[in-house]
Amino acid sequence: MLHKDDQLLKEQANEQIREHGSLVQRDPYRLHYHVMPPVGLLNDPNGLVYFNQLYHLFFQWNPFQTDHGSKFWAHMTSKDLIHWEWQPIALAPSDPFDKNGCYSGSAIVHENKLYLFYTGNVRDQAGNRESNQCLAISEDGITFEKKGPLFTVPEGYTPHFRDPKVWKENDMWYLVIGAQTEHLQGRALLYKSQNITEWQLVGEISDKEKPLTDFGYMWECPDLLLFDNQDVLLFSPQGIEPQAYQYHNIYQTGYLSGVLDRQTANFNHQEFIELDNGFDFYAPQTTVDGQGRRIMFGWMGLPETDEAFHPTKDYRWIHAMTIPRELTLKQGILYQQPVKELTQLRKELLLNQQQKLVDEVVTLHEIHHDALEFIFQVHAFKGKSLEVSFSEHTKLVFNKEMQTLTLHRNSIKSYQSEARTTDLQELTELRVYLDASSIEVFVNQGEKVFSARLFDAIPYHELTLQVNGTLDYHLQAWSLKNVMK
Ligand code: FRU
Repeated sequence: MLHKDDQLLKEQANEQIREHGSLVQRDPYRLHYHVMPPVGLLNDPNGLVYFNQLYHLFFQWNPFQTDHGSKFWAHMTSKDLIHWEWQPIALAPSDPFDKNGCYSGSAIVHENKLYLFYTGNVRDQAGNRESNQCLAISEDGITFEKKGPLFTVPEGYTPHFRDPKVWKENDMWYLVIGAQTEHLQGRALLYKSQNITEWQLVGEISDKEKPLTDFGYMWECPDLLLFDNQDVLLFSPQGIEPQAYQYHNIYQTGYLSGVLDRQTANFNHQEFIELDNGFDFYAPQTTVDGQGRRIMFGWMGLPETDEAFHPTKDYRWIHAMTIPRELTLKQGILYQQPVKELTQLRKELLLNQQQKLVDEVVTLHEIHHDALEFIFQVHAFKGKSLEVSFSEHTKLVFNKEMQTLTLHRNSIKSYQSEARTTDLQELTELRVYLDASSIEVFVNQGEKVFSARLFDAIPYHELTLQVNGTLDYHLQAWSLKNVMK
């Protein structure tokens, strides 16, 4: 079903890389070890899967502009989640059923072939939307043949119907998909199939006893994660109002954990928990790899907010992925840890100090790098507050009296300080990944995470520890390699 313009569109996209790729490479804010677009705009991770000893990561890509538009699926592979190789463009919006974008979706392996499920976005002349859930198949994992639409919007829902995520259990295929009811409420729907091509709607994933009916106007990019006998529905709702320290970004990402009945879609679950406490995190996707680990990438960005102000647009690119993270579930809470392979990035041990400080400010002068890993272990702390700063504007403040942890940064839009806060009773560890324009903070072995883009002066050299109280700590810092060529 190859449309005649498919090769041409891909060729035009490649031409953008040839023409502007070196400008992207010259940006001082270009990332050293995060997946980023070769040119243009990146958004959601798609099709994350482990196939024939390789990790495959696809992403939403607009090669022509640093704005959202008709998306392609860019494609990369890796043996170790650290070193990535570009593969030919997987999907281009070239067919009548996906002409305004090959939108987000997922990948599964079946009979040694790679199956991609994605949403074909179509707009008519009046701008009305149509959503087709489509399939593409690859024998070699590199070239994909589009098979066209499998199903479209069910009755009772609007065309905001997208982002299929497929998995297999006991010879049955399941799929979750983001939807909007005709009453403009966000939902996730469950489908099942015996043969991968014919899909039957099971129903709305919902707790029949206490349904979450009024929770935003659209749920994007749902994913269903299985941990032993527990299920986690991860999704990105839109239209949630800020509440205390929660929901301060334009759109949210979080999860419900509980038990999903595959026959009825009834989902007995706990409260919604936000997955990331920082500024830039959205539409994550997970897969189970060859070692049985649940691996997640997120888009380290958000639509609309700040996009117009990113300085990287001058270098013809915008947005990036998070680092790969391993997820585990403990008492209904998702923990996120950087995958262990990331230790391969360590270049030089810059600091290794075990100390006791009493009401002091210590500046760690010897740091002068664009990319760093930083592990700060708190052996004992008595007092009011602890502050770790990475630059003039970027700092983490643990307020023991208030039991909060706050990330401060310089706003991308206004160059004024802004903050995100989360409740935290005790601080035992901060593991921080800094790249030329990003920070990811893993708190207490992944109990809480902050992800954010930073447009600070680089290299970072202002590492400072400010202690208001008595602190016994161990601090290690490494410079990190540049592996994104
Ligand atoms: C989430 C999202 C998805 C959609 C894709 C389009 O960021 O809006 O719902 O499939 O991006 O690029």
